[in-house]
Amino acid sequence: MAQSFDTRYPSVDDLREKARKRIPRFAFEYLDGGCNEDVNIRRNTSEIRDIQLKPIYIKDFKGASIKTTLFGQEYDAPFGVAPVGLQGLMWPNSPEILAKAANKHNVPFILSTVTTMDIERASELTEGKAWFQLYNPAEDAVRNDILDRAAAAGCPVLVLLCDVPTFGYRPRDFKNGLALPPKMTMANILQILGKPNWALQTLRHGIPTFETLRPYTPEGLNLKQLGKFMDKTFSGRLNEERIKPIRDKWKGKLVLKGVASEEDTEQAIRLGFDGIIVSNHGGRQLDAGESTIAPLTRIAAKYKDQITVMMDSGMRSGPDMARSLARGAEFTFMGRSFMYGAAAMGKKGGDHTMTILKVQLQQILDQLCCENIHDLHKHLI
Ligand SMILES: Cc1cc2nc3c(=O)[nH]c(=O)nc-3n(C[C@H](O)[C@H](O)[C@H](O)COP(=O)(O)O)c2cc1C
Repeated sequence: MAQSFDTRYPSVDDLREKARKRIPRFAFEYLDGGCNEDVNIRRNTSEIRDIQLKPIYIKDFKGASIKTTLFGQEYDAPFGVAPVGLQGLMWPNSPEILAKAANKHNVPFILSTVTTMDIERASELTEGKAWFQLYNPAEDAVRNDILDRAAAAGCPVLVLLCDVPTFGYRPRDFKNGLALPPKMTMANILQILGKPNWALQTLRHGIPTFETLRPYTPEGLNLKQLGKFMDKTFSGRLNEERIKPIRDKWKGKLVLKGVASEEDTEQAIRLGFDGIIVSNHGGRQLDAGESTIAPLTRIAAKYKDQITVMMDSGMRSGPDMARSLARGAEFTFMGRSFMYGAAAMGKKGGDHTMTILKVQLQQILDQLCCENIHDLHKHLI
């Protein structure tokens, strides 16, 4: 471990606790929460942790490597930063912090359509390696322009989201005035006053806005009008007719994110996607759904040879990743873990979180006596 490693936060759980103390409650609850009764979000992690791995000690062990290749690109670890909307609300400048850290650690960073940094800046910070996640725009002209910008920025992978047919039902966000259109309540103002560090940083960086969407957003909208505009501009519902022009136009790799069924996997294969991210949006959409590890296991077993199968939702540590990789995920992504890091530690948070995750993953491979992530399945019990 490097000398500069901050031993106050040796795990993502520690970062989460620090984030809780450091940012206003409405921002923390927006990041941390699931939906409805929070059943799905709890299952995501607990069912991953039900998986047990066995060590195999007596062998000629040549050392373990966590490096891997995905879509022809070598990465230093089998994890990346999942797209998260409104990142600047949780910690100012957090998309920049995470993009820079991803570049330093040589892991992929996915930029959300609705976050507070634009495609061009993400590309600049990652030397053209950032992936872009597209919410399906209702208007073809907006969609085509965003695709042209992503291509011009050199983005190698486009991630199309399918698991937000409508916004999730998130009781805490309603109470905190964070549903669309958002409103500033007296309670929120008091929470901000209680977190002066966050408030000062936010003042320094300015009110977060949807940077990638700036060219399509009329000037001077109030919050209510902005909510209506977003609703009209983006329809999360996807069908073959909406997907085909995207596949035809996008020359890079195309990934479908939010897959939770064999049915959608088969559609993804048929419609020419290069990969899928098995995901339930971190438990933020369908509380009655399965945890991600359940469909991941079935889908990887059946379709791994036909399409690249990746996964997110519920992982917070090296052992969590190792278990998911052992069950057949080729690559993993995390959303909240990195945002807890940025919210807890500001500028140093991305680097620190990635260091923890790399060290933990390396450590579990060493413990198992497993030489690379592709052999993890041999350690499944
Ligand atoms: C606060 C928050 C905002 C999110 N916004 C987006 C988004 O804009 N686009 C998207 O594709 N996924 C979004 N997601 C889902 C993440 O990409 C990812 O699927 C999820 O966070 C994985 O679960 P984990 O947080 O347990 O790692 C969001 C997740 C969180 C927690």
